[in-house]
Amino acid sequence: MAVVEVVVLVAAAVVVVVVVVAVAVVVVVVVVVVVLVVVVVVLLRSNFTLLHLHSILLKKHQTPPRGPAAPFPLPALLHSPPPRSLRYQLTVPSPPKPTDAKLILFSDFPDYYELEGRQGPKGLAHCTIPGPKGQQTRCELTVDNRRFQQADAVLFYSHGKHHMNDLGFDPVKRPGSTWTFFAVESPIHSLNTLFNDAAFHNKFNSTMTYRTDSEFWHGYFRTQRRKPPASPEESRAEEIELRRVFRKKSKMAAVFVSNCGAPSRRDVYVRELQKHIPVDVYGNCGPLRCQDRKACDEMLNKDYKFYLAFENSLCYDYITEKLLKILSARRVVPVVRGGADYSRLAPKNSVVDTSKFSSIAHLAAHLKELAADEEKWIQMFQWSSSWEVKGPDLPFCEYCQHLYSAQRSSNLYSNVYQWWSKGTCYPVKDVPRSLIQGRLLSFVDNIRSLWA
Ligand SMILES: *[C@@H]1O[C@H](CO)[C@@H](O)[C@H](O)[C@H]1NC(C)=O
Repeated sequence: MAVVEVVVLVAAAVVVVVVVVAVAVVVVVVVVVVVLVVVVVVLLRSNFTLLHLHSILLKKHQTPPRGPAAPFPLPALLHSPPPRSLRYQLTVPSPPKPTDAKLILFSDFPDYYELEGRQGPKGLAHCTIPGPKGQQTRCELTVDNRRFQQADAVLFYSHGKHHMNDLGFDPVKRPGSTWTFFAVESPIHSLNTLFNDAAFHNKFNSTMTYRTDSEFWHGYFRTQRRKPPASPEESRAEEIELRRVFRKKSKMAAVFVSNCGAPSRRDVYVRELQKHIPVDVYGNCGPLRCQDRKACDEMLNKDYKFYLAFENSLCYDYITEKLLKILSARRVVPVVRGGADYSRLAPKNSVVDTSKFSSIAHLAAHLKELAADEEKWIQMFQWSSSWEVKGPDLPFCEYCQHLYSAQRSSNLYSNVYQWWSKGTCYPVKDVPRSLIQGRLLSFVDNIRSLWA
């Protein structure tokens, strides 16, 4: 064979190999692109949010899973104050120095709880329990993670921590110690994937959250009987005042929003509602501003008939202080939209719940009717002669007492992360899908809020 022929053969072989490799690369790229396009299209079409991802990954459940049965009575929520026996019934005239204080570690609590360098939050500082034979006992609190192994109880604050290193200690449960899951924000804003780790399975004895199935409940607001109830004269005076205020009100509805494009897509809901009735949007996400909190509240009470107390997430039992403020002011009817059962948590006939209407147009029609009918509007305040609403009350003292109680629970949460997140928030269903724009963006926002 001539050298030339060899060269030609080698060259031909090289060309063939190059062509085959090129074709293979092109095929792979095309397949990847097609798969990506399909995924993005499916996500967009299904109005995808991170919650969907969660429910897909964790298998969706309609009702939130229950934790173990509480080893002691739960605070009664149904329009009655919590049982006195569980609350601050302690009469403690300057107790002697405690002999066996229980140590509670508040792990990862934000500074605004002001646990550091003080005797403790209001409930705990003076929470002293008469022990056996007149002995006084109490709880000592610490935020010092180095005392983890000494602690009788650890409250784990759940908010955006995802690595063991963030904890500051090795989470090995000391025999006999009590672990409690603590959260304030909705699962979307308080998830802590760390607790999904096997190290935390079957370790948590109890939970302290706004969810009514938590052993230690601290709702953003509580409904309780007004003591004493308003006298007939008071009620009469209140009614006269309400009528006077009603007649002077010149505007329909207002909403104050600072977190635009929240997972509940209340922005879209408000825009739809605006097609039927005037809604003034104040704050970062709207055109209107008012000077300060006090001025805003006064303006609201004076001018508006309704306030839209829409939650940023639609989650089980999740009602925030928005509603508390409006109900306490008692001059504006709250229109509520959230994942909670308002008929159970709010005073009877005190709110207009958007979920009770088959469409935004029906809601708007109802609001127009109320706004035009003084008698009906006034009726929305009748609850306030026998009920009142109160702010949150962290049950730290109750918790401390519980640590001394002889009752020990062998029930542990198998996976508190799932208890908190699995099927506990709901996708947006009350706005036509086609209206939810920037879905990918809100998806990205959700991820950011989760992993930030
Ligand atoms: C919490 O669980 C542990 C077992 O991990 C148990 O020993 C302890 O008594 C429990 N605490 C309470 C208050 O029930």
